[in-house]
Amino acid sequence: MRAAIAALRSQEKTVGFVPTMGALHEGHLSLVDLSKKNTDATVVSIFVNPTQFGPNEDFAKYPRTLEEDARMLVEKDVEFLFLPTASEMYPDGASTAVHVSGITSEFEGAIRPDHFDGVATVVTILFNIVQPHFTYFGQKDAQQVAVVKRLVKDLHLPIEVVVGDTIRESGKLAMSSRNRYLSDEQRGQSQLLSEVLFLIRDSLLKGTSFAFAKSEALGRLSKEAPIAQIDYLDLVDPETFQKLTSFEGRDSGTVVLAARFGNTRLLDNILVKRT
Ligand code: PAJ
Repeated sequence: MRAAIAALRSQEKTVGFVPTMGALHEGHLSLVDLSKKNTDATVVSIFVNPTQFGPNEDFAKYPRTLEEDARMLVEKDVEFLFLPTASEMYPDGASTAVHVSGITSEFEGAIRPDHFDGVATVVTILFNIVQPHFTYFGQKDAQQVAVVKRLVKDLHLPIEVVVGDTIRESGKLAMSSRNRYLSDEQRGQSQLLSEVLFLIRDSLLKGTSFAFAKSEALGRLSKEAPIAQIDYLDLVDPETFQKLTSFEGRDSGTVVLAARFGNTRLLDNILVKRT
């Protein structure tokens, strides 16, 4: 990988990198499209990273659809598909970790204690191997975006992080490799997640307080999506991921939502920005 990228760099070509765990869908492919548009060569990695899964999470069951993924990437004319094994990524075990503090203390970081150390470490290793000019991440995982931007800044990595919009299914459910586990009933009720996020955004921009908008949203969720168990619904600073009690006087905020439908956890968020 290094030799191939060094050859491109010596010809002044730019390299874009899209890290993934595979089971590709239109969300991943939108990041590939951004990279293809902005750079001379695109690298997509597929690596289901064991260190970002907790002991009771779905590492073993995480969907692995390599043939289908490869077919989609060939169709997109991606130059490189990077498929490292765990023993190539962590040849002597995983004893060195990258920890981003603060941003990771709440939300996904609180519910999944070692998750962001796993993400920050694997992303740093991948950046060091691929050495891209640009890397592409989805707004869908807003806390991951904040973590990656911060680690790139703090470690002075010469990489520009580009964030792609959340791609949604026709019912507006944010695309996710885990959506395939939803039953018809769960899928039906899950549409409400994005709906309440859009309503909260509109309310905040009209001057409604976050506390009121949140209680309205929770009311609708408990009535219209009773099988959803809400882990959190909060307003945060997009960069620090610290909780905000109010949107008043701010230019931007992110409303983050996580809900469980049976064993399937769904994440969504909306960036609220005054124009
Ligand atoms: P994965 O879940 O495969 O996601 C890879 C990239 O696709 C991430 O940047 C994610 O935010 C983006 N993505 C997923 N669903 C999306 C959607 N509906 N719209 C737009 N982008 C979407 O995130 C990971 O893998 C891993 O943590 C990784 C960064 C690869 C480190 O292991």
